[in-house]
Amino acid sequence: MKSLLMIPGPTPCPDRVLRALSQPMINHRGPEYMALQRELIAGLKRVFRTEHDVLIFPASGTGGLEAAVANTLSPGDPVLAVTVGAFGERFAEIAEAFGADVRRLAFDWGQAADPGRVGEALAERPARSLLLTHNETSTGILNDLPALARVGREHGALVLVDSISGMIAADLQADAWDLDVVVAGSQKAWMIPPGLTFVSIRPRAWEAHQQARMARFYFDFTRMKRSMERDQTPYTPALPQLFGLRESLAMLQEEGLEASFRRHARLAGAVRRGAAALGLPLFADPAHASPALTAVGAPAGIDLRELRRRLREQHGVVIAGGQGAYQDRLFRIGHLGYVAESDIVATLAALERSLIGMGWGAEPGAAVAAAERALAEAEADA
Ligand SMILES: Cc1ncc(COP(=O)(O)O)c(C=O)c1O
Repeated sequence: MKSLLMIPGPTPCPDRVLRALSQPMINHRGPEYMALQRELIAGLKRVFRTEHDVLIFPASGTGGLEAAVANTLSPGDPVLAVTVGAFGERFAEIAEAFGADVRRLAFDWGQAADPGRVGEALAERPARSLLLTHNETSTGILNDLPALARVGREHGALVLVDSISGMIAADLQADAWDLDVVVAGSQKAWMIPPGLTFVSIRPRAWEAHQQARMARFYFDFTRMKRSMERDQTPYTPALPQLFGLRESLAMLQEEGLEASFRRHARLAGAVRRGAAALGLPLFADPAHASPALTAVGAPAGIDLRELRRRLREQHGVVIAGGQGAYQDRLFRIGHLGYVAESDIVATLAALERSLIGMGWGAEPGAAVAAAERALAEAEADA
């Protein structure tokens, strides 16, 4: 059956990227590789909106989060981890695993972090670092990153940002927003397979790095930067993913970042309107709803595992379940990366048919009609 992958990562890869992945290997110590890496770093800087460093590590996003922590902190350093879901919690756990003195400021799942409360927490107990999640993939919340980062800076904390599922779907400006370290992951809106993490580092983070005593080797910023300055890497790079990255950067350049943000917002709006037309409860605070994915609460009396099975087996549409305590209490539709309006319409049609098949009282066509109206309105506003 033809299948449509609508989970919040890994996301579908464009044909252009898939073809690039299967290119023959090259000598990673030769001139061809050196030119490729130069091109990629220049492209990454454009997407991160930074004139400072962006490093590439062959690892999943979690590796990038570990790099951010281990390169800027020492054991015992006070850290404030702002969590709004499962991935904020992971960031906190990493800092704990490396011996930081972590204090959590946890907001309810489905809510965004409140910058005022973050400021209060920092005033109460100063922190060397503030850990922030840009887009929380477990709940479908987009935090107000510029406001949160500003509060961190005002209190003298180094701002470390997980934007693994945020960047490209949502605006992020590493320099203008004064974000000390930002971590991204290739399998999200970047449209390439899992396996690369990109980390931007601004001067204050480099200063912190000089003092930071946590153990590191594979993810050592200095080792990677010194190598990259010679257009090299300290170990064998993940060549296929880098070939894919070249294509995805070209596609982003063609679409334009602003257009990408608008597309993601439009698709997210259509999903939310479609789900609401089916009478489904949206999980995230609408004022902070993510452009990358939508989390939907369980409709009364509907078994979500069965719903997802029907979508997958009868319609070829793959969506994600919830995470942690919400595993069977919500489902998540990813709409980041290489996703078009037609994918949204197909997903909502399949969702609607599956739900009606399970006895949910919805009007056939209601979700698709609502989504199409939302898309048309967004087009008219543009
Ligand atoms: C916000 C966020 N942080 C961290 C991660 C972990 O990334 P990875 O699974 O690539 O290690 C993810 C992955 O879904 C994520 O969405």
